[in-house]
Amino acid sequence: MTDLRSADLRERWAIGALRLDRRLLMAPMAGITTPAFRRSVRRWGAGLVFTEMISSQGIDHGNRHTLDYLRCGADEHPIGFQLFGADPLVLARAAEACLRAGADLIDINMACPVRKVVKTGAGAALLAEPELAAAAVAAVVGAVGGAVPVTVKLRAGLRMGDEAGRYVAPGLVAAGAAAVFLHPRYAAQLYRGAADHALTRRLAAELPVPVVASGDIKSRQLCLELLGAGVSGVTVARAALGRPWIFGGLLDDHADPPADERLKELRLFVEEVVAEMGSRAVGYLRRFWPHFRKSGTIDRERARALMVAPDSEVVRRLLSAA
Ligand SMILES: Cc1cc2nc3c(=O)[nH]c(=O)nc-3n(C[C@H](O)[C@H](O)[C@H](O)COP(=O)(O)O)c2cc1C
Repeated sequence: MTDLRSADLRERWAIGALRLDRRLLMAPMAGITTPAFRRSVRRWGAGLVFTEMISSQGIDHGNRHTLDYLRCGADEHPIGFQLFGADPLVLARAAEACLRAGADLIDINMACPVRKVVKTGAGAALLAEPELAAAAVAAVVGAVGGAVPVTVKLRAGLRMGDEAGRYVAPGLVAAGAAAVFLHPRYAAQLYRGAADHALTRRLAAELPVPVVASGDIKSRQLCLELLGAGVSGVTVARAALGRPWIFGGLLDDHADPPADERLKELRLFVEEVVAEMGSRAVGYLRRFWPHFRKSGTIDRERARALMVAPDSEVVRRLLSAA
Protein backbone atom coordinates (compact mmCIF):
# COMPACT_ATOMS: atom_id res chain seq x y z
CA MET A 1 0.00 0.00 0.00
CA THR A 2 1.43 3.37 -0.99
CA ASP A 3 2.09 5.70 1.92
CA LEU A 4 1.00 9.07 0.56
CA ARG A 5 1.93 10.89 3.75
CA SER A 6 5.61 10.08 3.36
CA ALA A 7 5.72 11.25 -0.26
CA ASP A 8 6.60 14.91 -0.66
CA LEU A 9 6.93 16.91 -3.86
CA ARG A 10 9.19 19.37 -2.05
CA GLU A 11 11.66 16.75 -0.93
CA ARG A 12 15.25 17.40 -2.05
CA TRP A 13 16.91 14.92 -4.36
CA ALA A 14 19.57 14.76 -7.03
CA ILE A 15 20.15 13.59 -10.58
CA GLY A 16 23.85 12.73 -10.56
CA ALA A 17 25.51 15.75 -8.97
CA LEU A 18 22.63 18.10 -9.85
CA ARG A 19 20.71 18.89 -6.68
CA LEU A 20 17.04 19.69 -7.05
CA ASP A 21 14.80 21.15 -4.38
CA ARG A 22 11.54 19.59 -5.53
CA ARG A 23 10.31 16.59 -7.44
CA LEU A 24 7.89 18.38 -9.75
CA LEU A 25 9.44 19.22 -13.10
CA MET A 26 8.44 20.59 -16.48
CA ALA A 27 8.70 18.26 -19.49
CA PRO A 28 10.14 19.35 -22.85
CA MET A 29 7.68 20.31 -25.59
CA ALA A 30 8.77 21.15 -29.13
CA GLY A 31 7.41 24.50 -30.29
CA ILE A 32 6.31 25.38 -26.75
CA THR A 33 9.08 25.39 -24.15
CA THR A 34 10.71 28.69 -25.07
CA PRO A 35 12.47 30.83 -22.43
CA ALA A 36 9.23 32.78 -21.82
CA PHE A 37 7.25 29.57 -21.25
CA ARG A 38 9.97 28.18 -19.00
CA ARG A 39 9.96 31.38 -16.91
CA SER A 40 6.21 31.24 -16.65
CA VAL A 41 6.09 27.70 -15.24
CA ARG A 42 9.03 28.36 -12.94
CA ARG A 43 7.18 31.31 -11.40
CA TRP A 44 4.59 28.76 -10.30
CA GLY A 45 7.01 26.19 -8.96
CA ALA A 46 8.48 23.96 -11.68
CA GLY A 47 11.69 22.61 -10.15
CA LEU A 48 13.56 21.92 -13.39
CA VAL A 49 12.70 23.15 -16.85
CA PHE A 50 13.74 21.91 -20.27
CA THR A 51 14.47 23.34 -23.66
CA GLU A 52 12.53 21.71 -26.43
CA MET A 53 14.39 18.91 -28.22
CA ILE A 54 17.23 20.38 -30.25
CA SER A 55 18.71 18.78 -33.36
CA SER A 56 22.30 17.71 -32.69
CA GLN A 57 22.91 17.84 -36.45
CA GLY A 58 21.58 21.38 -36.57
CA ILE A 59 23.94 22.47 -33.81
CA ASP A 60 26.83 20.68 -35.48
CA HIS A 61 26.11 22.42 -38.79
CA GLY A 62 25.83 25.78 -37.06
CA ASN A 63 22.23 26.19 -38.29
CA ARG A 64 21.21 29.65 -37.09
CA HIS A 65 17.65 28.61 -36.37
CA THR A 66 18.80 25.61 -34.30
CA LEU A 67 21.36 27.66 -32.39
CA ASP A 68 18.51 29.94 -31.28
CA TYR A 69 17.19 27.05 -29.18
CA LEU A 70 20.37 27.21 -27.10
CA ARG A 71 19.42 30.65 -25.76
CA CYS A 72 18.93 30.50 -22.02
CA GLY A 73 18.79 33.33 -19.49
CA ALA A 74 20.85 33.60 -16.32
CA ASP A 75 17.62 33.28 -14.31
CA GLU A 76 16.67 29.96 -15.91
CA HIS A 77 18.63 27.52 -13.79
CA PRO A 78 18.39 24.66 -13.23
CA ILE A 79 17.66 23.83 -16.85
CA GLY A 80 17.96 20.66 -18.90
CA PHE A 81 18.86 20.82 -22.59
CA GLN A 82 17.37 18.04 -24.67
CA LEU A 83 19.12 16.79 -27.80
CA PHE A 84 17.97 14.46 -30.53
CA GLY A 85 20.10 12.64 -33.04
CA ALA A 86 21.41 9.20 -33.92
CA ASP A 87 25.13 9.79 -34.36
CA PRO A 88 27.05 9.50 -31.07
CA LEU A 89 29.88 11.79 -32.21
CA VAL A 90 27.51 14.49 -33.42
CA LEU A 91 25.50 14.22 -30.20
CA ALA A 92 28.73 14.53 -28.21
CA ARG A 93 29.79 17.72 -30.02
CA ALA A 94 26.28 19.15 -29.65
CA ALA A 95 26.38 18.37 -25.91
CA GLU A 96 29.55 20.45 -25.58
CA ALA A 97 27.69 23.35 -27.20
CA CYS A 98 24.84 22.88 -24.70
CA LEU A 99 27.32 23.00 -21.84
CA ARG A 100 28.74 26.27 -23.13
CA ALA A 101 25.19 27.61 -23.40
CA GLY A 102 24.54 26.91 -19.72
CA ALA A 103 22.97 23.43 -19.52
CA ASP A 104 22.72 21.97 -16.02
CA LEU A 105 21.67 18.59 -17.45
CA ILE A 106 21.68 17.05 -20.90
CA ASP A 107 18.90 14.72 -21.94
CA ILE A 108 18.92 12.55 -25.04
CA ASN A 109 15.53 12.10 -26.65
CA MET A 110 14.73 8.44 -27.31
CA ALA A 111 11.01 9.03 -27.10
CA CYS A 112 9.88 11.19 -30.01
CA PRO A 113 7.49 9.17 -32.21
CA VAL A 114 7.21 11.76 -35.01
CA ARG A 115 8.01 10.26 -38.43
CA LYS A 116 10.33 13.08 -39.46
CA VAL A 117 12.54 12.30 -36.44
CA VAL A 118 12.20 8.50 -36.31
CA LYS A 119 13.10 8.04 -39.98
CA THR A 120 16.52 9.59 -39.28
CA GLY A 121 17.15 6.91 -36.63
CA ALA A 122 16.66 9.41 -33.77
CA GLY A 123 13.98 9.70 -31.07
CA ALA A 124 12.05 6.51 -30.35
CA ALA A 125 13.88 4.71 -33.21
CA LEU A 126 16.85 4.36 -30.82
CA LEU A 127 14.76 1.99 -28.68
CA ALA A 128 15.27 -0.61 -31.43
CA GLU A 129 19.04 -0.05 -31.44
CA PRO A 130 20.24 -0.77 -27.89
CA GLU A 131 23.93 -0.70 -28.76
CA LEU A 132 23.75 2.54 -30.68
CA ALA A 133 21.60 4.07 -27.94
CA ALA A 134 24.18 3.09 -25.30
CA ALA A 135 27.00 4.40 -27.51
CA ALA A 136 25.14 7.72 -27.76
CA VAL A 137 24.90 7.98 -23.97
CA ALA A 138 28.56 6.99 -23.51
CA ALA A 139 29.71 9.55 -26.09
CA VAL A 140 27.73 12.38 -24.48
CA VAL A 141 28.85 11.39 -20.98
CA GLY A 142 32.45 11.38 -22.24
CA ALA A 143 32.03 14.79 -23.89
CA VAL A 144 30.61 16.53 -20.82
CA GLY A 145 33.26 14.96 -18.60
CA GLY A 146 31.11 14.78 -15.51
CA ALA A 147 30.30 18.51 -15.59
CA VAL A 148 26.56 17.80 -15.76
CA PRO A 149 24.40 14.68 -15.60
CA VAL A 150 23.30 13.00 -18.81
CA THR A 151 19.80 11.51 -18.86
CA VAL A 152 17.53 9.81 -21.39
CA LYS A 153 13.86 10.20 -22.20
CA LEU A 154 12.23 6.92 -23.20
CA ARG A 155 8.88 5.68 -24.41
CA ALA A 156 7.58 2.33 -23.12
CA GLY A 157 8.60 0.92 -26.48
CA LEU A 158 7.94 1.18 -30.18
CA ARG A 159 4.99 -1.16 -30.79
CA MET A 160 2.30 -2.11 -28.27
CA GLY A 161 3.69 -4.43 -25.62
CA ASP A 162 7.27 -4.75 -26.98
CA GLU A 163 8.67 -3.22 -23.74
CA ALA A 164 11.68 -1.97 -25.70
CA GLY A 165 12.14 0.90 -23.23
CA ARG A 166 12.49 -1.51 -20.34
CA TYR A 167 15.00 -3.66 -22.20
CA VAL A 168 17.17 -0.81 -23.45
CA ALA A 169 17.28 1.08 -20.11
CA PRO A 170 19.87 -1.00 -18.15
CA GLY A 171 22.40 -0.61 -20.98
CA LEU A 172 21.86 3.15 -20.99
CA VAL A 173 22.45 3.29 -17.24
CA ALA A 174 25.58 1.16 -17.64
CA ALA A 175 26.74 3.67 -20.28
CA GLY A 176 26.37 6.49 -17.75
CA ALA A 177 22.77 7.75 -17.83
CA ALA A 178 22.15 9.40 -14.46
CA ALA A 179 18.35 9.18 -14.67
CA VAL A 180 15.62 7.94 -16.97
CA PHE A 181 12.52 9.93 -17.90
CA LEU A 182 9.74 7.58 -19.00
CA HIS A 183 6.65 8.45 -21.01
CA PRO A 184 4.88 5.10 -20.65
CA ARG A 185 3.06 4.99 -23.96
CA TYR A 186 4.37 3.08 -26.95
CA ALA A 187 5.59 5.21 -29.85
CA ALA A 188 2.91 3.62 -32.06
CA GLN A 189 0.28 5.07 -29.73
CA LEU A 190 1.55 8.61 -30.22
CA TYR A 191 -0.60 10.33 -27.54
CA ARG A 192 -3.57 7.95 -27.64
CA GLY A 193 -4.74 5.89 -24.69
CA ALA A 194 -3.60 6.49 -21.14
CA ALA A 195 -0.01 6.65 -19.90
CA ASP A 196 0.56 3.32 -18.13
CA HIS A 197 2.41 4.28 -14.97
CA ALA A 198 2.51 0.66 -13.80
CA LEU A 199 5.41 0.56 -16.28
CA THR A 200 6.99 3.62 -14.63
CA ARG A 201 6.72 2.05 -11.19
CA ARG A 202 8.23 -1.18 -12.44
CA LEU A 203 11.14 0.56 -14.15
CA ALA A 204 11.81 2.57 -10.98
CA ALA A 205 12.02 -0.70 -9.05
CA GLU A 206 14.39 -2.21 -11.60
CA LEU A 207 16.90 0.59 -12.19
CA PRO A 208 19.60 1.84 -9.82
CA VAL A 209 19.13 5.49 -10.95
CA PRO A 210 16.17 7.87 -10.55
CA VAL A 211 13.19 7.24 -12.82
CA VAL A 212 10.97 10.23 -13.57
CA ALA A 213 7.38 9.92 -14.79
CA SER A 214 5.92 11.77 -17.78
CA GLY A 215 2.37 11.42 -19.03
CA ASP A 216 -1.09 12.52 -17.90
CA ILE A 217 0.24 14.06 -14.68
CA LYS A 218 -2.41 16.52 -13.54
CA SER A 219 -3.43 15.46 -10.05
CA ARG A 220 -1.53 15.69 -6.79
CA GLN A 221 -2.88 12.26 -5.90
CA LEU A 222 -1.11 10.65 -8.89
CA CYS A 223 2.11 12.57 -8.13
CA LEU A 224 2.14 11.32 -4.56
CA GLU A 225 1.22 7.78 -5.53
CA LEU A 226 4.14 7.66 -7.96
CA LEU A 227 6.62 9.12 -5.46
CA GLY A 228 5.34 6.76 -2.80
CA ALA A 229 5.99 3.84 -5.18
CA GLY A 230 9.65 4.76 -5.66
CA VAL A 231 9.41 6.99 -8.73
CA SER A 232 11.85 9.87 -8.08
CA GLY A 233 10.09 12.73 -9.83
CA VAL A 234 7.11 13.72 -11.95
CA THR A 235 6.88 15.99 -14.97
CA VAL A 236 4.02 18.00 -16.39
CA ALA A 237 3.70 18.84 -20.09
CA ARG A 238 0.26 19.41 -21.69
CA ALA A 239 -1.56 20.20 -18.46
CA ALA A 240 0.61 23.32 -18.11
CA LEU A 241 -0.59 24.76 -21.44
CA GLY A 242 -2.73 27.76 -20.56
CA ARG A 243 -2.39 26.75 -16.93
CA PRO A 244 1.19 27.35 -15.74
CA TRP A 245 -0.11 27.70 -12.16
CA ILE A 246 -0.82 23.96 -12.12
CA PHE A 247 2.67 23.55 -10.67
CA GLY A 248 1.71 25.53 -7.58
CA GLY A 249 -1.53 23.61 -7.22
CA LEU A 250 0.22 20.24 -7.41
CA LEU A 251 3.02 21.27 -5.05
CA ASP A 252 0.88 22.72 -2.29
CA ASP A 253 -2.53 21.26 -2.92
CA HIS A 254 -4.37 24.46 -3.63
CA ALA A 255 -6.90 25.57 -6.20
CA ASP A 256 -6.07 27.70 -9.25
CA PRO A 257 -5.32 31.34 -8.37
CA PRO A 258 -8.09 33.95 -8.73
CA ALA A 259 -8.94 35.41 -12.15
CA ASP A 260 -6.95 38.64 -11.70
CA GLU A 261 -3.76 36.72 -10.87
CA ARG A 262 -4.22 34.39 -13.81
CA LEU A 263 -4.69 37.33 -16.15
CA LYS A 264 -1.62 39.04 -14.66
CA GLU A 265 0.44 35.93 -15.39
CA LEU A 266 -0.90 35.75 -18.94
CA ARG A 267 -0.02 39.42 -19.59
CA LEU A 268 3.49 38.91 -18.22
CA PHE A 269 3.92 35.78 -20.35
CA VAL A 270 2.84 37.74 -23.43
CA GLU A 271 5.30 40.57 -22.67
CA GLU A 272 8.14 38.10 -22.33
CA VAL A 273 7.17 36.29 -25.53
CA VAL A 274 7.04 39.59 -27.44
CA ALA A 275 10.41 40.71 -26.04
CA GLU A 276 11.93 37.40 -27.03
CA MET A 277 10.31 36.65 -30.38
CA GLY A 278 9.38 40.02 -31.86
CA SER A 279 7.14 39.62 -34.90
CA ARG A 280 7.02 35.82 -34.46
CA ALA A 281 5.29 36.23 -31.09
CA VAL A 282 1.76 36.39 -32.48
CA GLY A 283 2.06 33.05 -34.30
CA TYR A 284 3.57 31.35 -31.25
CA LEU A 285 0.90 32.75 -28.92
CA ARG A 286 -1.86 31.34 -31.15
CA ARG A 287 -0.94 27.88 -29.85
CA PHE A 288 -1.96 29.03 -26.38
CA TRP A 289 -5.25 30.88 -26.76
CA PRO A 290 -7.50 27.77 -26.80
CA HIS A 291 -5.73 26.59 -23.66
CA PHE A 292 -6.09 29.89 -21.82
CA ARG A 293 -9.75 29.83 -22.79
CA LYS A 294 -10.13 26.30 -21.44
CA SER A 295 -8.52 27.34 -18.15
CA GLY A 296 -11.07 30.18 -17.89
CA THR A 297 -8.42 32.90 -18.09
CA ILE A 298 -10.00 34.48 -21.17
CA ASP A 299 -13.49 34.06 -22.54
CA ARG A 300 -14.47 32.52 -25.86
CA GLU A 301 -14.94 35.81 -27.69
CA ARG A 302 -11.60 37.18 -26.60
CA ALA A 303 -9.89 33.90 -27.55
CA ARG A 304 -11.45 34.17 -31.03
CA ALA A 305 -10.25 37.76 -31.41
CA LEU A 306 -6.76 36.84 -30.18
CA MET A 307 -6.56 34.02 -32.74
CA VAL A 308 -6.83 36.54 -35.56
CA ALA A 309 -4.88 39.38 -33.94
CA PRO A 310 -2.45 40.63 -36.61
CA ASP A 311 0.27 41.92 -34.28
CA SER A 312 1.34 42.08 -30.66
CA GLU A 313 -0.14 45.56 -30.16
CA VAL A 314 -3.60 44.14 -30.85
CA VAL A 315 -2.86 41.21 -28.52
CA ARG A 316 -1.90 43.64 -25.76
CA ARG A 317 -5.01 45.75 -26.33
CA LEU A 318 -7.30 42.73 -26.21
CA LEU A 319 -5.70 41.54 -22.99
CA SER A 320 -5.66 44.92 -21.27
CA ALA A 321 -9.42 45.13 -21.86
CA ALA A 322 -9.98 41.63 -20.42
C1 LIG B 1 3.40 19.68 -28.40
C2 LIG B 1 4.28 18.65 -27.72
C3 LIG B 1 5.63 18.66 -27.97
C4 LIG B 1 6.46 17.72 -27.35
N1 LIG B 1 7.80 17.79 -27.56
C5 LIG B 1 8.64 16.98 -26.87
C6 LIG B 1 10.05 17.12 -26.97
O1 LIG B 1 10.57 17.99 -27.68
N2 LIG B 1 10.81 16.26 -26.24
C7 LIG B 1 10.27 15.30 -25.43
O2 LIG B 1 11.00 14.55 -24.80
N3 LIG B 1 8.94 15.16 -25.32
C8 LIG B 1 8.12 15.98 -25.99
N4 LIG B 1 6.77 15.87 -25.83
C9 LIG B 1 6.24 14.86 -24.90
C10 LIG B 1 6.06 15.45 -23.50
O3 LIG B 1 7.29 15.83 -22.93
C11 LIG B 1 5.40 14.43 -22.57
O4 LIG B 1 6.24 13.32 -22.41
C12 LIG B 1 4.05 13.95 -23.10
O5 LIG B 1 3.29 15.01 -23.62
C13 LIG B 1 3.24 13.26 -22.01
O6 LIG B 1 3.09 14.10 -20.90
P1 LIG B 1 1.75 14.97 -20.62
O7 LIG B 1 0.60 14.03 -20.56
O8 LIG B 1 2.07 15.67 -19.32
O9 LIG B 1 1.60 15.92 -21.78
C14 LIG B 1 5.92 16.77 -26.48
C15 LIG B 1 4.55 16.76 -26.23
C16 LIG B 1 3.73 17.69 -26.84
C17 LIG B 1 2.25 17.67 -26.55
